[in-house]
Amino acid sequence: MVGDLSNAHDVSRAIAGADTVLHLVSTTLPKNSNDDPIYDVQSNVVASLHILNAMVTQKVRNIIFISSGGTVYGNPIYLPINESHPTNPLVSYGITKLAIEKYLQMYERLHGIRAITLRVSNPYGERQRVETAQGAIGVFVYNALKNIPIEIWGDGTVMRDYIYVSDVAETFVKALTYRGEHRVFNVSSGIGTTLNALIDMLEAVIGKSVERRYLPGRPFDVPVSVLCNDLGRGELGWTTLVSMPEGIARTVEWMRRELAQS
Ligand SMILES: NC(=O)c1ccc[n+]([C@@H]2O[C@H](COP(=O)([O-])OP(=O)(O)OC[C@H]3O[C@@H](n4cnc5c(N)ncnc54)[C@H](O)[C@@H]3O)[C@@H](O)[C@H]2O)c1
Repeated sequence: MVGDLSNAHDVSRAIAGADTVLHLVSTTLPKNSNDDPIYDVQSNVVASLHILNAMVTQKVRNIIFISSGGTVYGNPIYLPINESHPTNPLVSYGITKLAIEKYLQMYERLHGIRAITLRVSNPYGERQRVETAQGAIGVFVYNALKNIPIEIWGDGTVMRDYIYVSDVAETFVKALTYRGEHRVFNVSSGIGTTLNALIDMLEAVIGKSVERRYLPGRPFDVPVSVLCNDLGRGELGWTTLVSMPEGIARTVEWMRRELAQS
């Protein structure tokens, strides 16, 4: 089914007869959301309210919303960041994610819609889109295999919490049947990896070194983002299964197949 989240009719059609809505749509990226916050609000917050209103009308009782563990917290006050860490996003993308989370909670209070938020850290793996440059691993793997220098914003010490895509998907499945009292979960590996360490791992997997070009850092990149995943492990009964070297190796294999076909 094809449709536009900003179109109430399309949304209504999409959720007809559903038990649960898994909300993965985002019209913006962290890096471009500050360019036009009005668009960010209209196309994400207002559009998400269309979903919630349609759910009320059609008596769809559950929603799982994919939020952003990398942006809703802002600069960390302590590490690893747990779900009760203050939320001071540096980008509109994080503000709108947070606003949607709050509306989910409001609709739960007012209309009994069970709403689970998953604050995903930095997912990577097969089928990650290279062209949007959302996520370092997809771009780095592509460049390494094409012998294009890897550009690093900053000195490469920026630390992120990378999680393999199938481990993320597993939390969606667990959230579908969760009936406990918690509503917001970090979805992360809980392990911090710097960009420099990431490239070291990539070089080990592909068996050659890649050229690194260091560029000025970006003001909206928090220096460190590592999320505590204890709550999700305990409540959702979930765990990460794919290590970074294994996940990078799988991503490299997939990208090699893609490039061979193009
Ligand atoms: N990729 C990441 O690093 C990351 C990290 C944390 C959270 N997230 C969140 O996970 C979700 C999926 O991320 P992704 O990386 O797969 O992003 P993506 O941009 O690949 O996927 C977003 C999807 O939304 C669809 N979409 C956009 N505008 C739409 C509209 N008006 N109507 C209907 N559909 C529309 C797009 O076609 C696309 O399929 C997003 O909500 C994103 O914010 C992503």
